[in-house]
Amino acid sequence: MKEGTSDPRNNGSGNSAVDLDSVNAAYSRWAPFYDAVFTGPLYFGRRAAVREANHIGGTVLEVGVGTGLSLPDYREDVQVTGIDLSRDMLARAEERVRRKKLSNVAALRAMDAADMDFPDGAFDVAAVMYVMTVVPDPAAVFRELERIVRPGGKVIVVNHFAAKHGIRAWGERRLARWGKYLGWDPAFPRERLLAATRMKCVSDVSLPPFGLFSMLVFERS
Ligand SMILES: C[S@@+](CC[C@H](N)C(=O)[O-])C[C@H]1O[C@@H](n2cnc3c(N)ncnc32)[C@H](O)[C@@H]1O
Repeated sequence: MKEGTSDPRNNGSGNSAVDLDSVNAAYSRWAPFYDAVFTGPLYFGRRAAVREANHIGGTVLEVGVGTGLSLPDYREDVQVTGIDLSRDMLARAEERVRRKKLSNVAALRAMDAADMDFPDGAFDVAAVMYVMTVVPDPAAVFRELERIVRPGGKVIVVNHFAAKHGIRAWGERRLARWGKYLGWDPAFPRERLLAATRMKCVSDVSLPPFGLFSMLVFERS
């Protein structure tokens, strides 16, 4: 795991608004308040992604599992593994698993999504909710996702993408200056995500509230 290292991969194709150290520090700060602030606003995307993963079934890798807000919603016969860069976020996910006695959670591990310690084709599906605008190099994360999902498996991505025009676009560009402190890039363009993988996007739906978020499903060939 590349925890605590500065990130050498921030180049033109990467996400210069964030780096691994700043993300780790930001989520250490967020961890105690994360559920209070983000349970509601990010609820619909989590629900949509977990429904999709439940529909596929089998083994699920949740990347950037955070405090584990989605974990109780997986079907009992779906085996879930979660990874996260932040040990402070993971500690809360572990506590949730204990408290709710979630026997289908196989493991929670500290790991960088761009450098995963799983064999090729280990999972039927990967669910990546609100993470792709948080990583310094989305293409590197996609390469790993494509590797660890079996042929024919799916990668479900839920994210906010930058507005192209209007007051929202203006606000997001201003907020992006604080990306390193916030721990994500509020002005991340959808096109950058689509350009970061060769996997085919088989579904693209916008989600509430107000279509602020999207769920994209990619299929590994
Ligand atoms: C906005 S939170 C989303 C958490 C969770 N998916 C949810 O729906 O509430 C982003 C999460 O991604 C994690 N993360 C950021 N960069 C990561 C990386 N390179 N590898 C693994 N996890 C990462 C953060 O620590 C944080 O827990």
